[in-house]
Amino acid sequence: MTAAPEPMDIAAEDPDRFYFYCRRRKAEDSAAEILTGLRQMPKSIPPKYFYDSEGAALFDRITALPEYYLTRTEREIFRKHGEEMAEAAGRGRMLIEPGSGSSEKVELLLDALKPDVYVPLEITESHLLNASRHLVSRYPWLTVHAVCDDYSDGIELPEALPDGQRLLFFPGSTIGNFEPDQAARFLKHLHRACGDDGAVLIGVDLRKDSDILTAAYNDSESITARFNLNVLDHVNRLTRGNFEPRRFRHSAFFNERESRIEMHLESLESQRVTLAGEDFHFARGERIHTENSYKYTVSGFRALAGSVGFRPRHTWCDPNQWFSVHLLEAG
Ligand code: AVJ
Repeated sequence: MTAAPEPMDIAAEDPDRFYFYCRRRKAEDSAAEILTGLRQMPKSIPPKYFYDSEGAALFDRITALPEYYLTRTEREIFRKHGEEMAEAAGRGRMLIEPGSGSSEKVELLLDALKPDVYVPLEITESHLLNASRHLVSRYPWLTVHAVCDDYSDGIELPEALPDGQRLLFFPGSTIGNFEPDQAARFLKHLHRACGDDGAVLIGVDLRKDSDILTAAYNDSESITARFNLNVLDHVNRLTRGNFEPRRFRHSAFFNERESRIEMHLESLESQRVTLAGEDFHFARGERIHTENSYKYTVSGFRALAGSVGFRPRHTWCDPNQWFSVHLLEAG
């Protein structure tokens, strides 16, 4: 990150085991970023804007859908191989999780990994606080340093973190949201954040039959469609906009050449939308690109990690080879 860090407000809630750091993003920054994407051709909205509180709740419902195999498959891998992961990664490290949400996945590994310190980094303050309070009370041996911040431009950790070997945890195949060059850049951020003696444990969705992939993003209950359309309500609030979600429809398909699921919102008619006083025209059938979700091969992902200086130490998969978890060593 090149910009000078802004000061963080630090409020130590439990002076012993719970620390809270917050750097609030200004609403104007979000609005500017959204307008920039919508001025482009084709128009786009960054996928991080899916996650207002309604979007986060819809995403939780997605993870429980029969078609959405990702979450349940990754959980199975953690449950089955957690001890082996702890063996390979080393116990008692500081565990840092960018985009920790409600910290559900990390709970599958805490007893195995036994970190002294857990550092969740999450933009949604309510999720961060609830998750942290829960973990502090449930795990009496754990100290939590909770950081409320956006990690998409780089991972900035508080100066005050204790020393110790670091393990960066990035589950859920969120890495799939980045274009390949951005994914490499983000892996470099992880590399820098974990230090020379650190490591990364990262979940990556794998390329597979396109019917399975397509169904995962076009579920029969249309929860994914609601999740996609909900971004327009969130954008309206951030930009004083007047999108009408019912004038768009959800579209998701597998782009074989790019090896990615693409999600779009397609305009059902010719229309004009006003955001922050600026008019945007949509032709009938024109699409807003809302998400990419890249699907890797195990060897392709390991090569990408290798290209930014990681040594891929181990990869764990489910029996179908639908999903992978990689341990990457920095040194
Ligand atoms: C959070 C990026 C892993 O791409 O599968 C789920 C988000 N989008 N359904 C994914 C998502 C539509 C998800 N990731």
